[in-house]
Amino acid sequence: MTSAEQEARAAELRRLLNRAAHAYYVLDAPVMEDPVYDRLYRELLELETAHPALRTVDSPTRRVGGTPAESFTSVEHRIPLLSLDNAFSLEELEAWYGRLLKTLDRTPEPGAALPELAMVGELKIDGNALALSYEQGVLVRAATRGDGERGEEITANVRTIQSVPLRLQFEQPPAWVEVRGEALIPDASFAAINAERETRGEPLFANPRNACAGTLRQLDPKVVAARRLDFFAYTLHLPDDWQGGEGDPPRPTTQWESLQWLQCAGFKVNPNAELLPSLAAVEGFFAQWEDGRKALPYATDGVVVKLNNLRLQADSGFTQKAPRWAIALKYAAEEAPSRLLRLTCQVGRTGVVTPVAEFEPVPLAGTTVSRATLHNADRLAELDLHAGDTIVVRKAGEIIPEVVRVLSELRPAGAMPLALPHTCPECASELVREQGEAATRCVNSSCPAILRGALRHWVSKGALDVDGLGSRLIEQLVEKGLVASIADLYRLDAALLASLERMGQKSATNLVAALAASKAQPWHRQLYGLGIHHVGEVNAKALARAFPSVEALAAATTATDPDTPEAITAVFGIGGEIAQSLQQWFATPANQGLLLDLQGLGFSLAASEAERAAAATGAGSGGAGGDGAPLAGQTFVLTGTLPSLSRRQAQDLIEAAGGKVSSSVSRKSSYVVAGEEAGSKLTKAESLGVAVLDEAGLLALLAEGG
Ligand code: IVH
Repeated sequence: MTSAEQEARAAELRRLLNRAAHAYYVLDAPVMEDPVYDRLYRELLELETAHPALRTVDSPTRRVGGTPAESFTSVEHRIPLLSLDNAFSLEELEAWYGRLLKTLDRTPEPGAALPELAMVGELKIDGNALALSYEQGVLVRAATRGDGERGEEITANVRTIQSVPLRLQFEQPPAWVEVRGEALIPDASFAAINAERETRGEPLFANPRNACAGTLRQLDPKVVAARRLDFFAYTLHLPDDWQGGEGDPPRPTTQWESLQWLQCAGFKVNPNAELLPSLAAVEGFFAQWEDGRKALPYATDGVVVKLNNLRLQADSGFTQKAPRWAIALKYAAEEAPSRLLRLTCQVGRTGVVTPVAEFEPVPLAGTTVSRATLHNADRLAELDLHAGDTIVVRKAGEIIPEVVRVLSELRPAGAMPLALPHTCPECASELVREQGEAATRCVNSSCPAILRGALRHWVSKGALDVDGLGSRLIEQLVEKGLVASIADLYRLDAALLASLERMGQKSATNLVAALAASKAQPWHRQLYGLGIHHVGEVNAKALARAFPSVEALAAATTATDPDTPEAITAVFGIGGEIAQSLQQWFATPANQGLLLDLQGLGFSLAASEAERAAAATGAGSGGAGGDGAPLAGQTFVLTGTLPSLSRRQAQDLIEAAGGKVSSSVSRKSSYVVAGEEAGSKLTKAESLGVAVLDEAGLLALLAEGG
């Protein structure tokens, strides 16, 4: 071959190989058998090795190889890489749309319909943003996002991503093009990478995004090449004056056309993008992918909504860190993997020991979590948790995060199994687990953890409601031995308090005053504050109404005939379990001592004259079903927002008439009182056939006396 023939052959081979790779990796429609590709590839490699002058920047042989870098250099982005603002609900999406209309001066007249702006809906790929620079159609630089202004130059690594074109498929490529998109590792490759790391005893990646970020920062491009990264392009920046040559797609005027342009240029564009004519269509797109995304072979964490018209995009501009014309609408992450750091135990105020997993912080449903409950010893055994395990954590709504399962296949070799300790982590006394009980308990009533819990409960809002006595202070008081019981709180003097950490003269005096004032709290709050197992706010109120003093209540706990009106179980809503718990509590000498102490300190532990008078007229006596209590025996569930009554007011009215307010609907509920935006409780009431009232209905019921 003459050198001209060699040059022509090399060009032909590059064209064939690049087209085959594009068909395979971008279009997912192979046009060449693997052995053919390999033969042509070897021919090109041999030509280039023999005649290094034939090597061009867009040769497919440039994708692999490359010598490992010592480090990465920092480069400035031609155009900063911005971030996106997030919306976590359709309300937030609508608020964003309202702000966008306002910016564009298109807010409708009150009452008029919202103007509809076309949007592009794209999947939010959970990978790593890349900025690719092309000059005269050739990839010259690839960089990570970095801080948005400057990133790390990782061109050699990005060249190994087969779906990133080394040369744009244009007749007259622009002088420069900036393309942004997301690099990712598909789930299957992620699994293979972790499996291999495991056999080599290397630490595993927690998720595909971390694996991708770690890979992009690999110094050896050969490692990157082996990891099979992929890339979806989604943003395009062109020189202002570029209009394109004959046969080239014209300059885009919309995001939708940008995606098409990118596709023509040879990029992989996510096929699930959609042109959406209205906000309603955006909401449909979001809903559709909530489940749809689970079937995709790569991770997504939301959808990105972009104003389609590029001129309107320019008009709306940017905030500090994000464009006004786009928003990321995120799906709530409900489960996420993390690595267990340690197992700790929490001792609650009733002595129950709860195992808690502490793990590497992970974002979950809008917050970052690093601790989750493991419930109890049984659950711990069921999970078969070992030190250093990779766990899957779940958070649903407001519920405390929990550990759903352990990825035992990722367990480090020789890891120790974890179990609850035999002794209390706070006081070292032997822990007890009663037969048939799920809970493991510390039964040492002077355990500092139990004491701290009891004190916190006593001063809490629903109980004695003492301001200025937070957890930190309680910790100090217990640790220094200044307080060994609830009663001791009332023996503290201001001078001593003022000498404690973070306390001053003024806060000390205020606290002493607040404690003194708390002695006047009503009987039901005092009772609730004692923290008797099963005696929550609702039961404390019912008991306080039926038994106007601690003596009456204590006497009732020893009543043997459950059918006498003196018996605790005769009180509406109080079952045998609660009665038994009360009986145990009153039979305990330490508790009897506490009651005497409190009375000595000036607590009445009884209903005041006013409370008794209210009970006598019927309004306050829900208790044993007195005749004057029109709603006695009836249970109400409140849901939604009532037009005029606050929830607290509605509850007070119901309770004053002898009714009970419960938080969950069951067949036994008498009524569900539903206001605006009533949720699942209303649906449940309807399905169970429980009567539903609105506020007016409730007021009528109260007026007519049940
Ligand atoms: S557009 C100025 N489109 O999400 C707008 N970003 O949370 C730039 N991302 O940094 C971003 N999929 O890494 C855009 N279809 C998509 C995306 C996407 C994933 C990432 C991107 C960005 C981050 C913001």
